[in-house]
Amino acid sequence: MHFDIFTLFPDMFQGPFSESILKRAQERGLLSIALHNIRDATADKHHVVDDYPCGGGAGMVMKPEPIFASVEAVYQSGPIILLTPQGRLFTQQVARELSQFERITLICGHYEGIDERVRHYLVTDELSIGDFVLTGGELAAMMVVDATSRLVPGVLNGEESTLEESHSGGLLEYPHYTRPPDFRGWRVPDVLLSGNHAEIAKWRRKESLRRTRERRPDLFAKLDVSSKQDMKLLKELEEENQG
Ligand SMILES: C[S@@+](CC[C@H](N)C(=O)[O-])C[C@H]1O[C@@H](n2cnc3c(N)ncnc32)[C@H](O)[C@@H]1O
Repeated sequence: MHFDIFTLFPDMFQGPFSESILKRAQERGLLSIALHNIRDATADKHHVVDDYPCGGGAGMVMKPEPIFASVEAVYQSGPIILLTPQGRLFTQQVARELSQFERITLICGHYEGIDERVRHYLVTDELSIGDFVLTGGELAAMMVVDATSRLVPGVLNGEESTLEESHSGGLLEYPHYTRPPDFRGWRVPDVLLSGNHAEIAKWRRKESLRRTRERRPDLFAKLDVSSKQDMKLLKELEEENQG
């Protein structure tokens, strides 16, 4: 999978992309990321990338010409995504959708944002990473690259499952423990040390249901819990709450 990222601040990406899983994925040829400085595509002497908003008002707006020029110089295929707080919400489902593409283009805004003609005539999708406003699209782009590329087969190298984790099946994931079994008197639940795989799976399902219901009632409301096992586990949770 290949990402082309268009930004005014390419150096911001150096840390996150040169460590850990993303670094290894690039070394193994599973992932490539090209950073393009929008400023390099300016034609004027002062490399101007922004200008005053038409109609007046605070802040500066990113000019369309360098954005079009830099994207058009390298674009081959795939979605051209603008990071913007006005976009559709980036979720695990969207990450899965994006992980099917060979190539993805990401455009990072800055200042007040970008000239609307970029959105109209260049961009094919707009993503927001949440209902808050960042200073620029760079952190948002990093999140999209990270969450998407870990779903590309081989990137996680079998270390983690992407099927059971939070937001994959509509549930939050169950709690994790590792050794020691007793830390400061706080014990790992006995069932996890029992070696009984069926009981462990049941415990995990129950804890996932508990967590999702407590922390994310919005997700819980959308869940299909009509299976016999889930009904039983939910009844047990009710009884625990009453007891
Ligand atoms: C200060 S913001 C501009 C916000 C814009 N004036 C508005 O009200 O919609 C600058 C840039 O940060 C990025 N950005 C800010 N918040 C974001 C979010 N929640 N998700 C994705 N990108 C975001 C966008 O690229 C945006 O162009």
